[in-house]
Amino acid sequence: MLVILPMPGNETMAKALAERLGAELAVLDWRRFPDLEAYVRIASDVRGKRVFIVCTLANPDPQMLTLVFAAAAARDCGAESVHLVAPYLAYMRQDKSFRPGEAVSATHFARMLSRHFDSLTTIDPHLHRIRDLEHIFTIPTRVGAVAPLLGAWIAENVTAPLIVGPDQESHQWVAEIARSARAPYVVARKERLGDEHVRIELPDLTPWSGRRPVLADDIVSSGRTMLQASRLLIAAGMAKPYCVAIHAVFSPGAFENLAQLTERVVTTDTIPHPSNAISVADTLAKSISY
Ligand code: R5P
Repeated sequence: MLVILPMPGNETMAKALAERLGAELAVLDWRRFPDLEAYVRIASDVRGKRVFIVCTLANPDPQMLTLVFAAAAARDCGAESVHLVAPYLAYMRQDKSFRPGEAVSATHFARMLSRHFDSLTTIDPHLHRIRDLEHIFTIPTRVGAVAPLLGAWIAENVTAPLIVGPDQESHQWVAEIARSARAPYVVARKERLGDEHVRIELPDLTPWSGRRPVLADDIVSSGRTMLQASRLLIAAGMAKPYCVAIHAVFSPGAFENLAQLTERVVTTDTIPHPSNAISVADTLAKSISY
């Protein structure tokens, strides 16, 4: 028997998954004590059942303890196994120690999650220098790939698109998105000079004049990458770009700044956000039932 248990804020995705999987939707009783410590109670019967906890990790620091308590409580209540469904998997970008003493958060975060769950299911994690989640997790991992969904959205909504990857890391997604959208693509070069400062160099766009640029990336966080690339595209004489991304991380103000400069910003629902226009529920459900 399969049970889907949403952490706070994940109820919509959990319900969509439960419907698709014919699973029971469990309830978590959760609140903060006056001193801000977390109270967690599994308010459904999970004895002998496989429990899939749904928690997108867009805000991992305050989420982690509550999530770990929920997993432990499910085991204490007799769950047969406890699994994590994290549509967005945080902390994957610091995959290397660039300066002496830096924590390689991707590895440490993966080890931490591996200690508390029997498996992980996620959508398009940011894998760059670490090629596969199995190199950092010690539990089975399942990855749903949604670039074809982004390509399908573009094919349906944008006339004569040119898919533009803002940096080399986006190449893996951009090539697949372009294939699904049946559109050409180019990839820019990016140098990150700080958390909120990037330098981008676009390739020659003269062969593509008249096409509508669609910037595509896995994550929008500070929005600097998409913003700078949008400015350069407009300065190069292209039409206002669309921005299409998988994970709507968006730090404060990032979405508003981007929306002002671009035709439209579109994301998937791995993280609930007003820009969500593409659902990953089918892909996640298939990955869970695989
Ligand atoms: C990194 O290579 C990622 O693919 C994104 O390009 C990056 O995380 C975007 O970050 P920001 O929105 O802060 O520029």
